[in-house]
Amino acid sequence: MRLSRYFLPVLKETPSEAQIVSHRLMLRAGMIKQSSAGIYSWLPMGYKVLKRIEQIVHEEQQRAGHIPMLMPTLQPADLWRESGRYDAYGPEMLRIRDRHERDMLYGPTNEEMITDIFRAHVNSYKDLPLTLYHIQWKFRDEVRPRFGVMRGREFYMKDGYNFDLTKEAALHAYNRHLVTYLRTYERMGLQAIPMRADSGPIGGDNTHEFLVLADTGESEVFYDSEITDLKFGDRDIDYDSVEECQGVLEEFTSRYARTDETHDEAEFAAIPEERRRTARGIEVGQIFYFGTKYSDALGAKVVNDNQEQVPVHMGSHGIGVSRLVGAIIEASHDDKGIIWPEGVTPFHCGIVNLKQGDDEADAACEQLYSALTARGLDPLYDDRKERAGGKFATMDLIGLPWRITVGPRGLKNGVVELTSRKSGESVELTPEAAVARIAEIYALT
Ligand SMILES: Nc1ncnc2c1ncn2[C@@H]1O[C@H](COP(=O)(O)OP(=O)(O)O)[C@@H](O)[C@H]1O
Ligand SMILES: [Mg+2]
Repeated sequence: MRLSRYFLPVLKETPSEAQIVSHRLMLRAGMIKQSSAGIYSWLPMGYKVLKRIEQIVHEEQQRAGHIPMLMPTLQPADLWRESGRYDAYGPEMLRIRDRHERDMLYGPTNEEMITDIFRAHVNSYKDLPLTLYHIQWKFRDEVRPRFGVMRGREFYMKDGYNFDLTKEAALHAYNRHLVTYLRTYERMGLQAIPMRADSGPIGGDNTHEFLVLADTGESEVFYDSEITDLKFGDRDIDYDSVEECQGVLEEFTSRYARTDETHDEAEFAAIPEERRRTARGIEVGQIFYFGTKYSDALGAKVVNDNQEQVPVHMGSHGIGVSRLVGAIIEASHDDKGIIWPEGVTPFHCGIVNLKQGDDEADAACEQLYSALTARGLDPLYDDRKERAGGKFATMDLIGLPWRITVGPRGLKNGVVELTSRKSGESVELTPEAAVARIAEIYALT
């Protein structure tokens, strides 16, 4: 993309309505525009990041054998009356009536709808296990939408649902989701810690929230510092192996890590004092085993191998896709702007032409641009007639991990400059070497 032809409406001033850094930077970098409270348009660069995150979520779900599909945003109220949640959900649910006076709602989640699909088509234990998921817009009429996309009213969420014959099989699905989530967040450059969560009225202790540590997080968290040393890394996991998935769950959940909702002072005090940490965190996902709650209510049964009708065991598993855009910025920025992790960056690198209009500089930039594109990379070329200072400020604000700077002085010696946004370090190298270096970096992510 050439910046002169792109739509990147960066703001000079810091928007006063934004209370936290990710919201400020998303507005300043021209990623989003508020349409009404808690509802945003995703401008081209914000949309690109959202899609990168969505793509990683898809890849990691499908790696584990989970099946993508798509359910609508609008749902019939009758399904929710069957589960008893139509009245229970309260004012967070946006209720709508169509022209035939039928009660509808904008889905805040999809347990009822997926259970309805399941009961219509699956009758036998032989079709289990099954995990279906979708990534779709949700609506929750939050009392206080705030922090930009972090607590919106309309937000983009991955929600997946497992159907299993037994509790043991459903707990394996739970563990398998935990593994996929650890991989997913790490690929986005995040450390998200699974913390025992409050299961609310459903009961049991089979729910974990994934929290990214950040001062602006809405949850207070308490944890054993040893947990932040754990890395999932590039492990090869057999997602069908009960032992392997269980092993990962034990490794990542055996140390103390709780939010204020489940915090236990006595247990926390048992950890050596130097390892006790209190901080704040952003919830970027949650996994849940809830047994037969919805299958009982909606009559989702299968025949087992004794020819008996039994309700299926279920769980649901969510990732806050749009919230992650903000969470990643909270975790990765400096006073000049965003610092995108390579896994989610909107463009792989920037090209800054220090002397637009200079034949040699223009030609070198064009050549770099086509060489990068030919390698399957997606560069953003700042080809505007702007001063170098302004171009650097824009690049720093929008946070591309790598910048190639091209100017007449360097070209005299046959070199361009490659700069890391994160470390600020620069090296001089030939244009060909710069392209090869960038290609190598992204081949590894
Ligand atoms: N209002 C919101 N705005 C943006 N993301 C949200 C919002 N509510 C929930 N999410 C994201 O969706 C994920 C799954 O939602 P869920 O656990 O059902 O929400 P909650 O914990 O708020 O009840 C959450 O972990 C969070 O990342
Ligand atoms: Mg939650």
